[in-house]
Parts: sequence; structure tokens; C-alpha cells
Amino acid sequence: MRVVSVVGARPEFIQVAVLSRVLRRRHHEILVHTGQHYDAAMSAGFFDQLGIPQPDVNLGVGSLGPGEQVGEMLRKLSPVLERLDPDLVVVRGDTNSTLAGALAAKALGLPLAHVEAGMRSYDKSTPEELNRVATDHIADVLLVTDGEAVERLAAEGIRSGVHVCGDVMYDLYLQALPRAEAALSPALHELASEPYDLLTLHRGENVDDAARLRAIVAAFAGAPRRAIFPVHPRTRLQLERFGIALPPEIFALEPLGYLEMLALERRASVIFTDSGGVAREAYFASVPCVTLRDRTEWTNTVAAGWNRLAGANETLIRQWVRQPPTMPLEHPALFGDGGAADRIVAALESSRTCALIASARKTRATRASPAAGA
Ligand code: UD1
Ligand code: UDP
Repeated sequence: MRVVSVVGARPEFIQVAVLSRVLRRRHHEILVHTGQHYDAAMSAGFFDQLGIPQPDVNLGVGSLGPGEQVGEMLRKLSPVLERLDPDLVVVRGDTNSTLAGALAAKALGLPLAHVEAGMRSYDKSTPEELNRVATDHIADVLLVTDGEAVERLAAEGIRSGVHVCGDVMYDLYLQALPRAEAALSPALHELASEPYDLLTLHRGENVDDAARLRAIVAAFAGAPRRAIFPVHPRTRLQLERFGIALPPEIFALEPLGYLEMLALERRASVIFTDSGGVAREAYFASVPCVTLRDRTEWTNTVAAGWNRLAGANETLIRQWVRQPPTMPLEHPALFGDGGAADRIVAALESSRTCALIASARKTRATRASPAAGA
């Protein structure tokens, strides 16, 4: 199979690290980077550290307003996909790159697979929810982490092409763990030698809203432990714009590499985050998590008792900064067994997907766009 994988943002590079390796054992993968994330600490660093194949194409779209960014990605992606003429396009998660990849593929009649399908926060005020709902509804192959996602998709009328695979982030977590500690610099080792919490923030609903951002950071004033805070570029920009100073208990860093992040997550007392990936990694590492959002699509970690929803409620966050939430004794396997990438590739090789690819090729061969001759 000739597969185009579209990536653009940090969590997509992390997921492709494990999926590319398995996919490339038997198939030809072409990696297209939209350029949504472009700072070395948000993009190239992950390709180097995780041995991800270099992108074959970088669209260089960069930072734009939400509608504009998807539009520009689509404009640049469409001729690239047309030229590459793959059997299948694979997108992941819920970013603007996910949506653009999905729309570009389907506009050209290319079969589309969505990794991490079926997740819902049911909060349509966030771009992530719009991106994941829209992508699920046009995808042909839906690769979900668990049975609950199957039920959510069924409730929306999506029943065919759904495969339960587990979470590729868990695959990578297990594979990368032995290398994580050694990746810590002496300075990070020193920093992590005393008890600390870990904080990450980047969601628009928090960092574009001065009141929410101010409330979250204020909750750490007077904290009994230091909070180590690798700062996403969006958040750095907004803290400066709103003139919000961090309390001395928050120790800000540049964004970290994946291995350093895993090592710090494992040693943290509590993880405070609005990231979907970091909340799952907290669960993998059996570290209590406080989610700084009003809703989450990772409700399974909340139901299991390992994740608390605090939104941007200063009082609630402060309470868990002072007194870490107690965690249950049970830690069920919510994210598979570390073999998600193998299951995903098997689903892409299934007879149904192969029939779909053959039929889409036939349809494309009989079509000619009037715009092509204009
Ligand atoms: C995006 C995704 C979000 C995901 C996150 C992962 C969307 C709508 N959002 O959010 O779902 O959780 O990535 O990290 O796709 N910036 C830089 N350098 C970079 C990248 C971004 O300075 O390399 C700054 C720019 O000012 C930019 C802002 O961060 O405008 C936001 O970046 P953007 O990619 O639009 O959204 P994220 O917040 O990163
Ligand atoms: N991450 C990282 N360095 C950091 C912060 C996060 O490597 O400084 C990793 C984190 O371990 C996880 C992924 O980035 O694997 C999550 O991505 P992010 O929080 O950007 O997006 P989300 O998961 O919310 O979409």
C-alpha cells in the first residue's frame, strides 16, 4: 500500500513515531508535515529524538487564524495528494492538520483512516471537538482506542469500518520508558530530585482567556511543592500579552523533549494539565492527574478515579496543589496492551479496507475534474 500520513502538531509526531515503524515494515509511507508546529522544540526535536523519518513534504503553513490555517493547509495539501496519488490517507487526533488532511483526502476521493477516532468532549466551543467530529464523519476506517469509542460512534450512526486497537501513545510510552531517565540533563535531574508537580497548559479555552489563565497560575501561589512548567509557545505569548507573572512556586522551562517529559511525568507528585496526551501519560505512569478543563474526552481516566476535572477553578486547583487527590487501588488497562500500532496496520490491511481502496481507485480513474482543464 502507498499511504500518506498527514501530521502537523506535537502529539501527531509522537504518535507517528511508533506507527511509521510498523507501517513501513510492509508498506510505503509518505510523510506530509503541514508545518502547523515549526519551532525546533515543537517539531524537529521530536523527529531527531524519536528517530521519526524526515517528512517527505513540508507544506510550511505555520501559524494563522483558525479558519485561515485549515484553508491554507487544504490549498497546499490538495495538489500534493493529487500528485502522490496514495491508496490511503491517515490522519490522527483532532488538530487543524487532522481536519485539513481529512478534507483534502475526501475531496479527491481518497480512502481516509482516522487514528484516535470516536473521542468526544461534547464541547463544540473548542476547535478540537469540531475537528474530531468532522473527521470521524468522513473517515472510512476508524481506529479507536476502546469499546466506549465504538459506542459513541454508533450513537452518531457510524458503525462500519470501526476497529478497536488500543492507544499508540501507550505503545510508545512502553517502548520509550527504558530510555527516559537517561535523557534527563544534569540540570533536570537536579530539578527533579525534590518532590514537585508537573504543569502543562496550551488549550485555547485556557490560555486565550486572561481570567482563566490568571486563575490557574494563581492557584500555585504558596504551593508546598514546586510546579515544573514546560511552557508551550502559545502560552508564553499569552502570559506576556496579558501581563501575567508566574508565582515563584512555578518553575518555567522551554518545551521539553518527549523522553525528558516522560521521565518528569513518572517522578511527579501530581500532574496538572489541559493536554489530552499528558493526561493519558499520567494514567500510564499511575500518577494522579488534575485536568484543567471543564470537560475532557478522556472520561475513562476520570471514571477510573485517576483524573479529576478542575477546569480553571482556582479554589479547586489550589485544594489539589495543597493536598494531592487520593487515587484508587485499581488501575485497569484502559489503553490496550502496547500493540495498538500492529492492530492499526492489520485494520488497514483488512479485506474491507483493501476492497475500499480498489473501489476508490476505480472511481478516480473514471473521473476528470473540469477544473483540471481550465
Ligand atoms: C494545537 C492543536 C491542539 C493540540 C496542540 C498540541 C489545533 C486547533 N490545536 O494547538 O489540539 O493539543 O496543537 O500541542 O490544531 N506557536 C509557535 N511555534 C510553534 C507552534 C505554535 O510559536 O511551533 C505559537 C503561535 O503563536 C501559534 C500558537 O502557538 O499561533 C498556537 O499554535 P497552533 O498550532 O495554532 O495551536 P496549538 O495551541 O499549538
Ligand atoms: N510533551 C512533550 N514536551 C512538552 C510537553 C508535552 O514532549 O514540553 C508531549 C507529552 O509527553 C505528550 C504530548 O506532548 O506525549 C502531548 O501533546 P500536547 O500536550 O502538545 O497535545 P495534546 O495531547 O493535548 O493534543
